[in-house]
Amino acid sequence: MLALEDVVAAYGQSQALHGIDLEVREGEVVCMVGRNGAGKTSTMRCIVHDLIRVTGGSVRFKGEDIAGLEPHQVARKGIGYVPEDRRVFASLTVAENLKVPRSYAANDGYWNVERVTELFPQLGQFHSRLAGNLSGGQQQMLSIARSLLTNPQLLLLDEPHEGLAPIVARDVIAAVERLKSLGVSMLISEQQLHLVHETADRIYIIDRGRMVFSGTMQEFERDPEIARRYLMVVQ
Ligand SMILES: Nc1ncnc2c1ncn2[C@@H]1O[C@H](COP(=O)(O)OP(=O)(O)OP(=O)(O)O)[C@@H](O)[C@H]1O
Ligand SMILES: [Mg+2]
Repeated sequence: MLALEDVVAAYGQSQALHGIDLEVREGEVVCMVGRNGAGKTSTMRCIVHDLIRVTGGSVRFKGEDIAGLEPHQVARKGIGYVPEDRRVFASLTVAENLKVPRSYAANDGYWNVERVTELFPQLGQFHSRLAGNLSGGQQQMLSIARSLLTNPQLLLLDEPHEGLAPIVARDVIAAVERLKSLGVSMLISEQQLHLVHETADRIYIIDRGRMVFSGTMQEFERDPEIARRYLMVVQ
């Protein structure tokens, strides 16, 4: 479904990714795990063409080269993106935020306001609250809900648990599990492997702009050296 091959990318003159290979198949939940600054966000940006410049390799979605598309065109192709900074409209209410995607929705699909509210009941409870007054966890739920309303075929979640209290992170994990059971294909980035341990069909470990491991969780666990080398916090 999504395939990155040998992707090289830069911010201005500064190269951030040095040859990324990554694949997400239909219905799969793939997790990209790496330390702070490893290149997780940059990899996602190469897919949706946000900020970064792809200078080499290819980005294909359903067989089509999407490298030259504008961000809104990528969205129309069926890729939903929930960035790490969430980007809710702070001065609009929850209900108003949920109305925005209707204007650019690619199709009438499974997701509508009722279904996302069922997935995240708190959004129903706080529907008239300004998004800027929501907690971090609620903003994350709103951001995911908004993306779902475009009925994406692939959902990119950049560190969806970041900065959330454990109890709230658990709600987000439960929602992701639910999406998985509905067959939503997802690419999730995360610094802490344990948060995606149960959900991931396959994982990639990224370090300094390169993929250093790809495989199943069982394969990963067979070689503790990988975790030690690439995931432990550098002192
Ligand atoms: N807007 C930017 N301009 C210039 N360099 C950037 C920019 N964003 C990220 N970088 C650099 O690109 C490299 C990869 O960063 P990236 O944000 O992709 O990492 P990350 O894995 O998402 O980290 P984190 O877990 O902290 O979110 C880093 O060296 C970072 O300094
Ligand atoms: Mg990041």
